[in-house]
Amino acid sequence: MHRVFVSADIPADILSPLHGLAEVDMWEGPGTAPRPALLERLPPCQGWLSMLTDTVDADLLDMVPGLFVISQMSIGVDNIDVAECRRRGILIGHTPDVLTETVADTAFALIAAAVRQLPEGMELVKRGEWGPWDPWAFLGGDLHGSVLGIVGMGRIGKAVARRATGFDMTILYTSRGDKAVPDATRVELVDLLRRSDVVLIAAPLSPETRGMIGRAELAEMRGDAYLVNIARGPLVDTAALVEALAAGSIAGAALDVTDPEPLPPDHPLVGLPNCLVVPHIGSASVRARRAMAQLAVDNLAAALRGGPMPAPLPDAGAMGE
Ligand code: DGY
Repeated sequence: MHRVFVSADIPADILSPLHGLAEVDMWEGPGTAPRPALLERLPPCQGWLSMLTDTVDADLLDMVPGLFVISQMSIGVDNIDVAECRRRGILIGHTPDVLTETVADTAFALIAAAVRQLPEGMELVKRGEWGPWDPWAFLGGDLHGSVLGIVGMGRIGKAVARRATGFDMTILYTSRGDKAVPDATRVELVDLLRRSDVVLIAAPLSPETRGMIGRAELAEMRGDAYLVNIARGPLVDTAALVEALAAGSIAGAALDVTDPEPLPPDHPLVGLPNCLVVPHIGSASVRARRAMAQLAVDNLAAALRGGPMPAPLPDAGAMGE
């Protein structure tokens, strides 16, 4: 019988199909399995239900010679050395689609919170500084009638665009794909940065996209514009973002993802009043996380049976945003 390792506590009803197919060794928490636990418990395994916090590199793979399938419970797989896995014939599964609408909800919540200055208002109330109503205090931007620039028009970008249409926003986008997107205009990145009230990063992290929003790109953004990142922290140069926010050369940022993650409490991004940070919760709804776990189990079970996975990682270049 095969043996599999599961890097986080998965509800028993979701995990149950694996029991007839393999001996299951599961990290029962807290959180996800730390590196020493992987080094100790992975070597006898043929299958692995991994998390985005696992660093899957050649050193680790060398220690797991019988591994033939990694099924990750996320859409992004930037923690996995995919080329190295392909070289070794290791199958990779991931969990697209089932989280799209939830991540788009979170993206839109971040956009609205930043533009309408919700965290600043909440902080003021908590500090006991809520004074008499002032017609000229707390003036933020509007969602309706403003321009949303989506960098990376994949599944999540499109789902955010649909929401933005309902808010009467004008939508610009950049994309590697060549299909037209209804109610949205494709532009060059520099044009998007110059024209948008809100720039939303929704592109996958790869060697090509790492650091794609740096000092030069932030300098193209307007002084009253916001940057929102729902994808991966390293797409944005953190030092450059801190500088832009501190100097007020952009109005603010709302980040579901950061570089590094987690952010230490004394990190400059945490202390900036115009930066809203939440702890990588884009897909963290009960329904989405259960669906992601289910798809990860289904991928793993299919590979253990020798069949095709329902959601294999596409070849490089076809990964989509
Ligand atoms: C993913 O699936 O890659 C998301 O970042 C998880 O929220």
